[in-house]
Amino acid sequence: MQTKILLEENDIPTHWYNVVADMPSPPYPSFGPDGKPLKPEMMLAIFPGNLLEQEASRERWVPIPEAVREIYRIWRPSPLVRAHRLERMLGTPAKIYFKNESVSPAGSHKPNSAVAQAYFNKMAGFNRLTTETGAGQWGSALSMAAEMLGMEARVFMVRVSYDQKPFRRSMMKTWGAEVFASPSELTQAGRAVLAKDPNSPGSLGIAISEAVEEAASRKDTNYTLGSVLNHVLLHQTVIGLEARKQFEKVGDYPDVIFAPCGGGCNLAGLSFPFFADKAAGDKRARNLRIVAVEPSSCPTLTKGVFAYDFGDASGYTPLMKMYTLGHDFMPPGIHAGGLRYHGAAPLVSQLVHEKLLEAVAVPQLATFEAGVMFARAEGIIPAPESSHAIRACIEEALRCKETGEPKTLLFNLSGHGHFDMASYDKYFAGALEDYEYPESAIHEALQRLPKVPE
Ligand SMILES: Cc1ncc(COP(=O)(O)O)c(C=O)c1O
Repeated sequence: MQTKILLEENDIPTHWYNVVADMPSPPYPSFGPDGKPLKPEMMLAIFPGNLLEQEASRERWVPIPEAVREIYRIWRPSPLVRAHRLERMLGTPAKIYFKNESVSPAGSHKPNSAVAQAYFNKMAGFNRLTTETGAGQWGSALSMAAEMLGMEARVFMVRVSYDQKPFRRSMMKTWGAEVFASPSELTQAGRAVLAKDPNSPGSLGIAISEAVEEAASRKDTNYTLGSVLNHVLLHQTVIGLEARKQFEKVGDYPDVIFAPCGGGCNLAGLSFPFFADKAAGDKRARNLRIVAVEPSSCPTLTKGVFAYDFGDASGYTPLMKMYTLGHDFMPPGIHAGGLRYHGAAPLVSQLVHEKLLEAVAVPQLATFEAGVMFARAEGIIPAPESSHAIRACIEEALRCKETGEPKTLLFNLSGHGHFDMASYDKYFAGALEDYEYPESAIHEALQRLPKVPE
C-alpha cells in the first residue's frame, strides 16, 4: 500500500511542455491597449526578449536551463501522494491522489515560474524586478527567486492580503524584497485609486497596474507576472510532467484531474501534459476530464464572458481574449486571495471555450469544510485556494461511492495554508460567509469591455 510516489532528482524534466503545439486551433492574437496591433516595443519595455519568445512559441518542447533545474532540485520532484486516509474517511471506491506542490520553500507551485522568470531576466541583463501579489504566494516565490539569482525585487501586495497576512510580508522581506500595500502612493495608478477611495482594499488588477507602471518607467526594471501568460503556464508544466512519470511508476492513470483556478497556471501545469496524451490519441487518456475549480464569488470561467479585456484594472496591459468578469471587477474579500482575479489565462480560457476543459464554481464555506476534512485525514493544512480543488474532488469521490465506480482522481495541492490560519480561525468562529456573484454585475461590467476589431 504505497503512499508517496517519489522520483529522483535526475527525473526533473529537462524540457517544459507547450500546449499550443497540440491545441486544435491557434491562440487568439493579443492587441495593444488601444485596440490596435500589439507593438513589440511595448512588450519589450517590461519583459525580456527571451521570455517573449517563449510567450509566442509554438514548439512542443522548450528546454529548461540547467541553472533553473539546479534550483528546482531544492524541492523538486515534488511527491505524488495517494490519499488513503481521505479515501477511507469518505468510504469511496475511488483512488485519490494529490501532487504536493506545497513542499517548495515558498509553500506553493509559484516558484516553478518565479525561478525561470528571474533567470531569463538576469540572462537578458536586468537586475531589478517588480510584481504584484494577491495571496502573497507569488510575491514570496518571486522574492525568493530574485534573491537566489542576486536580483532586487519590489512587490505590490493587494491591501486586504497585506493586512490579513503580515507574515507573508515578513517572508518577502526575509528574502530581501521591498513590499508595499497596493493601492500605493508610489504610482499614478495607485494614487488615482486612492484619490477616489482612500480605504480601497485593492485588487490584483490594481496591483498589476502599479507593478507594470513602475517597470515601464524604469530602464533597469522588468515586470513579472505570477500567472495568466503563456510562458508562466509553460514553466508550471514540470508539475504534470513529473506526475505523469509518477503514475507510470504505479501503473495507474487519472480519470479526472482537479485544480484550483485563479489565473490558471497550476491547473495548466498539472493538466496540460495529460492533455498532450489525449491529443496524441493515448487510449488511457480517452475519457480523461480536466476540471478547473473556481470560487462562486469570482466565477470567471463559469459566469464570465469570453471576450477581449485588459489584464489589469487601469488599462495598461495588452488586450487578451479570455474569460473575464470585467477588468474593473472588485472581488469580495474572500480568503482564497489567489483566486480573486477578474480574468483567466487565455490558453485555459480557449480550451474551456472549446469544451476541452471543464469548469465548476464552489462556495467559500464548502471549500473550508473540505480543507479541514483533508487536514484531519492527511495532516497537511491546505491553502484556501487548494481547498477549492479538494472540495470538487471530494464531491466526485462521493459520487463514485454512490455509483460504485473505482475512478482514479487527481488534484493539485497547489500550496499549504500555514499563513492562512487567520481565515481558518474565522471559519471556526462562524464568521465566514458565502457570496454569489450577481448576474447583474456581470452585465454591467460587459458594458465597459474595450473594443477590438474582431
Ligand atoms: C496556493 C495557490 N493556489 C492557486 C493559486 C491560483 O493561481 P493559478 O490559478 O494561477 O495557479 C494561487 C495564486 O496565488 C495560490 O497561491
